[in-house]
Amino acid sequence: MAPTPTREDKFSFGLWTLGWEAQDPFGPATRPRLDTVEAIHGLAEAGAWGITFHDDDVFPFGSSDADRTKAIDDLKGACSDTGIVVEMVTTNLFSHPVFKDGGFTSNDRGVRRFAMRKVLRNIDLAAELGAKTFVMWGGREGAEYDSAKDVGAALERYREAVNVLGDYVTDKGYDIKFAIEPKPNEPRGDILLPTVGHALAFINSLERPELVGLNPEVGHEQMAGLNFTAGIAQALYHGKLFHIDLNGQRGIKYDQDLVFGHGDLHNAFSLVDLLENGGPNGGPSYDGPRHFDYKPSRTEDITGVWESVRANMSMYLLLKERAAAFRADPEVQEALTEARVYELGQPTMGEGETYDGLLADRSAYEDFNADEYFGGKGFGFVRLQQLASEHLMGAR
Ligand code: GCO
Ligand code: MN
Ligand code: MN
Repeated sequence: MAPTPTREDKFSFGLWTLGWEAQDPFGPATRPRLDTVEAIHGLAEAGAWGITFHDDDVFPFGSSDADRTKAIDDLKGACSDTGIVVEMVTTNLFSHPVFKDGGFTSNDRGVRRFAMRKVLRNIDLAAELGAKTFVMWGGREGAEYDSAKDVGAALERYREAVNVLGDYVTDKGYDIKFAIEPKPNEPRGDILLPTVGHALAFINSLERPELVGLNPEVGHEQMAGLNFTAGIAQALYHGKLFHIDLNGQRGIKYDQDLVFGHGDLHNAFSLVDLLENGGPNGGPSYDGPRHFDYKPSRTEDITGVWESVRANMSMYLLLKERAAAFRADPEVQEALTEARVYELGQPTMGEGETYDGLLADRSAYEDFNADEYFGGKGFGFVRLQQLASEHLMGAR
């Protein structure tokens, strides 16, 4: 049996996830629209703690001020009735045709200025609703053709936009941080800031890097063939894991946005282990929202949608249990020691040692016998992975 989610688990869902009507490039919607208030009530009943949304999810692009206010009031009412919090807000700079070449990095300057205004208005809303994180997913910031985009200039425009947003929240005194969400492609042929690594380097070029971190998504790194857990470990290492998009993906193909754990289960296991317990050598864990950004498959009706909502939380909690059992198992601890996982936590240089000490240490080089060093012994990583797999499968 899967454990029951509670608010303490800090599970949150994008309104666009369960609200997806399941239209895709090959066919129209297979489900009716899910009302915002109904979605919030359903999430609260299922044990979720928070919601997130794009401006356009709550009030359609081009809504009158009155319609916008009404939609926001309905959302606020549902939140106060249920105790659901708005933990993150993001802006849709990708659906309307005007954003066909991007928002912040469109070749067209008028579009860039419009995009910045749309975002500033949405930051005010985020502050009003008490959201602490503002996500930027640049789905249309990219190109299909190398000749069509001056990537250096586009990055400069991206930087300019994020610097202005940083000035804005600082001057307004908003308690909001930004989280950039990388994705390698889709909907553009190639998207700017395609991976965690690209985005980290970009953040370091900003005027207020402390205000900007990452919102990595499981499937997006996996679309690039990368190890998501390893990317998250590096984001944590740099203090940049500001938010996370949990979902599932099966290999290098279109963005599947499956339920969390319904893709690469081994990687989901190591991810939850890392988020909950930190690195084995005392590396940081994550205490932010456990946010799901997935799509209930197009085959599902509304019952299936709610099944998929619960499935995300169940998968996370089951993996959390399995990870705790893994860490607590004395045989695993012994295998971790044997595999020298803990030895990696030991500095390579001695305390206070400089290169002089290293150069004077004959055992490190002159007398170091590389050919005989291991005496034919291995590290035992396979045994460790088998122990992890047995825990993952509930066999221990
Ligand atoms: C995707 C993206 C989006 C973004 C969301 C936030 O699956 O391509 O994850 O869902 O997360 O739009 O802006
Ligand atoms: Mn995705
Ligand atoms: Mn996402």
